[in-house]
Amino acid sequence: MDLGLQGKVAIITGGARGIGLAHARALGREGAIIVINELDAKAAAQAVEELARDDILAVSCLGDAADEALVVETVAQVAQRFGRIDILVNNAGIGVKPAYPVENMPAQAWDQMIHVHMKSTFLWSREVIPHMKAGGFGRIVNTSSMNFTGGGRPGVAHYAAAKAGILGFTQTLSKEVGPFGITANAIAPGYVETDLIAQFSDEMRHRLTSQNPVGRTCQPSEVAALVAFLCSSQAGFINGEHVCIDGGRRDFYWGS
Ligand SMILES: NC(=O)c1ccc[n+]([C@@H]2O[C@H](COP(=O)([O-])OP(=O)(O)OC[C@H]3O[C@@H](n4cnc5c(N)ncnc54)[C@H](O)[C@@H]3O)[C@@H](O)[C@H]2O)c1
Repeated sequence: MDLGLQGKVAIITGGARGIGLAHARALGREGAIIVINELDAKAAAQAVEELARDDILAVSCLGDAADEALVVETVAQVAQRFGRIDILVNNAGIGVKPAYPVENMPAQAWDQMIHVHMKSTFLWSREVIPHMKAGGFGRIVNTSSMNFTGGGRPGVAHYAAAKAGILGFTQTLSKEVGPFGITANAIAPGYVETDLIAQFSDEMRHRLTSQNPVGRTCQPSEVAALVAFLCSSQAGFINGEHVCIDGGRRDFYWGS
């Protein structure tokens, strides 16, 4: 199937590692030009090198995905350099270590979670919309999590709230941008093999796999394949959707 991504310009936040890097590979192999926003300069340089070895044109822009000035300037520069912006994948995120029950959660931990996940998703979306409207085409994919459905496990209320907020944001956004050839969708992955879950204990890993109907965790490339399709020209009627990619496991079952 031709996904129609040749020559499209895609911005991916947190794109130097894990799921974000898998998005960059998948979209790049389909012919898209990749712009990676990333906090970690070393990881960003390695990612751009790796993508170049795969004949993918990729550039990086360093900094906090939720820094308003950076987002405004980066989007303007990308539009000037490449003449268009077609795809935005809001992927930047942080893990939940340390976890805090709500009664002990520092406000700073709450703020950081909302900042990195929700504020960045809002800012990049706001800035790319005029460019997508100008091109008559746009694909925005936001990263939620299976945590939004049944809530997260105890200690991750801030993460679950941020990911649920992304869903409400996406559904509203989809109604605003739909008339302009732009879609906005969210993905809700289960446990994906990245640095984010590398910190889990063996006991936790056993639970994750034994409680999953498919009996394993997910690979970043599997999430990226879903996102590549959502970003494709074939997916123009999928809008305001949240697509679970969790092996059929809809939430974190807190039991044995
Ligand atoms: N791994 C999972 O099991 C899983 C499950 C559901 C959802 N998610 C979500 O998928 C996304 C990617 O997760 P991952 O597992 O690939 O994580 P990861 O830690 O492997 O990669 C995240 C990347 O984002 C970057 N980053 C973090 N904060 C940033 C910021 N403020 N600005 C710019 N870049 C920033 C990191 O440096 C890193 O390169 C996150 O939003 C995460 O919440 C992950």
